[in-house]
Amino acid sequence: MNRDGSVIYGNNEEGMRRVRAFKEGKLRIGGDGLLEHDEKWIPISGDVRNCWAGFSLLQALFIREHNAVCDMLKEHYPDLDDEKLYRYARLVTSAVIAKIHTIDWTVELWDEGQLRFKDLFGHICGPVLSGLVGLRKPNDHGVPYSLTEEFSSVYKMHSLLPDKVILRDITNSANPNYECPPVSQEVPMTEMTGKEGERRMSKIGMEQMLVSMGHQASGAVTLWNYPSWMRNLIPHDINGEEVPDPVDMAALEIYRGRERGVARYNEFRRNLLMIPISKWEDLTDDCEVIEALIEVYGEDVEKLDLLVGLQAEKKIKRFAISETAFFIFLLIASRRLEADRFFTTNFNPKTYTEKGLEWVNKTEPLKDVIDRHFPDMTAKWMRCSSAFSVWSAPPDKTNYIPLYLRPAT
Ligand code: HEM
Repeated sequence: MNRDGSVIYGNNEEGMRRVRAFKEGKLRIGGDGLLEHDEKWIPISGDVRNCWAGFSLLQALFIREHNAVCDMLKEHYPDLDDEKLYRYARLVTSAVIAKIHTIDWTVELWDEGQLRFKDLFGHICGPVLSGLVGLRKPNDHGVPYSLTEEFSSVYKMHSLLPDKVILRDITNSANPNYECPPVSQEVPMTEMTGKEGERRMSKIGMEQMLVSMGHQASGAVTLWNYPSWMRNLIPHDINGEEVPDPVDMAALEIYRGRERGVARYNEFRRNLLMIPISKWEDLTDDCEVIEALIEVYGEDVEKLDLLVGLQAEKKIKRFAISETAFFIFLLIASRRLEADRFFTTNFNPKTYTEKGLEWVNKTEPLKDVIDRHFPDMTAKWMRCSSAFSVWSAPPDKTNYIPLYLRPAT
């Protein structure tokens, strides 16, 4: 989910108007708590391209969050009109999303304990980044902030997606000491994407989908773990309409890197002042991988495509992503906060309202947001500390040492 909130608010004037209710600052949401749809069953939301049920679930959750912020602001500042309520609530919700993305999701993603190979059950550094919020002045290091092509390349983590969604039965009403909800059905991802996915979601409902996703591991970002259904994917255009020709996403991703002139793996590392590899054994000690690399690239390590290198690279113990990708994450995650005036100069009650700023400061992880809207459900079905962990995991004490500084265990 983009950290500027555009996935729920839209990217342009027309998109923004499409999602607004124009009443008390609120956004449109269905009576069942899920996204509304137009007559073609395309969701009413900020970003409708290549959507799937899990994504529209999160969009609906943050629309509810926005609407709850509107209610809170209206209560404290009854004179605010629709436009002002919308704008303040949007600032607050976007800041909550940015915070969750930086100190909850990114941190969990760095932890390899949360990821699994397809078909297995199981599951997938905050304070150092949160310290950047509230700097007195934005700092863009002389370059206007943008999401770089390098960031987009390392973020192509489609291997995180499963081949099927495992639905859980949450009808059991008594669950005082937490018990893992039993599996009720396995649905292929092809039935959870696009319009079909939206229709299915409306039958499944928000709570069952949240609990089911919470109990399912993401895929590990590694070679030979690409979701097979994406090898024959019907993509969407910007309006959420299906494009006629299916694509092999795995191949397309490599092609895009070459087309856009993104540096290949070794050059990419040099650009980051990291030591390049001079032989395949510097990349990995997995003989099967080396054999496959020789078959494709011969002995020429300079030809290695970035995406292949990122996935083949031997990971630092407990890291879920490669060290090369990690450097980019660290750079962009911190720059996203320090270059933005809404997290620096204007991170104040005058810009957010006093109660709005309090909302941002008091909301930390995704768990807080889910708790706010589904308190009974989280009490019953979420055992872990972070909503990005598998929910059956035991609660963790917060570890204030950034992962990359923790000793290997
Ligand atoms: C059902 C889920 C998803 C579908 C169907 C999907 C599909 C697509 C498609 C069709 C593209 C454009 C390919 C092209 O023409 O270059 C794309 C790009 C991309 N996707 Fe996904 N995707 C999904 C989920 C994800 C997830 C979970 C992530 C990351 C965690 C991700 C990250 C990206 C990135 C970074 C790009 C490149 C954007 C750019 O080039 O600017 N996607 N995806």
